Amino acid sequence: MTTLLQINASINDDNGQSSQLANQFVAAFRTRYPDAKIVVRNVATAEPVPHLNAERFGAFITKAEERSVEQHAVVAYSDRLIDELKKADVIVLGLPMYNFGVPSQLKAYFDHVARAGVTFTYTDKGPAGQLTGKKVYVFAARGTLVGVREGSRGPRIHTPSCRFLGMADVEFVYAEGLAISPQSKEEGLAKAVAEIARLAA
Ligand SMILES: Cc1cc2nc3c(=O)[nH]c(=O)nc-3n(C[C@H](O)[C@H](O)[C@H](O)COP(=O)(O)O)c2cc1C
Repeated sequence: MTTLLQINASINDDNGQSSQLANQFVAAFRTRYPDAKIVVRNVATAEPVPHLNAERFGAFITKAEERSVEQHAVVAYSDRLIDELKKADVIVLGLPMYNFGVPSQLKAYFDHVARAGVTFTYTDKGPAGQLTGKKVYVFAARGTLVGVREGSRGPRIHTPSCRFLGMADVEFVYAEGLAISPQSKEEGLAKAVAEIARLAA
């Protein structure tokens, strides 16, 4: 059975444009694969991930047999997030742009699933991600047309740590220009919706 993990990161919850586009894709996916298991995680609202700090990172790098009760709890939380990711065949990411970056809550999420020796290893050729064999769909919403103007379809500005963790098959759908004018918003959303229809066909 296929498992799809949907990660939404909008502070606007299901009203966020990125969430709505991701939801549309997931609805189409569900129609096509009625037996698929769908797991939804909202890292910005329903289940905010704490920011990584020295204590939490310290728990990750302490040997299991030497961890305190608190450290075990931190690692168990991270392990649960990683387990959920590992079990997913398809990952759908609702990705807003806030202040020219990914939402800080999403960064916190990646900080909790990027663990040396668990989800990636250091090699002389750079980090080698362990979460391979997954298909990732990113639904990126932004107020401006920055990606278009710079001729960059995303990696620099809008790509989170998927590739670093081994998820190389990443497909982006962009809804851009949402804050420029009502017409620009309509056009940006229409393009994204058409792209979703193409992907779902
Ligand atoms: C706090 C905040 C910061 C934003 N920063 C940017 C930005 O730097 N560049 C941009 O193009 N749009 C920016 N926007 C517009 C959002 O990208 C746009 O509203 C998008 O729809 C947000 O995704 P969401 O609707 O899923 O929350 C910002 C919006 C908010 C609320």
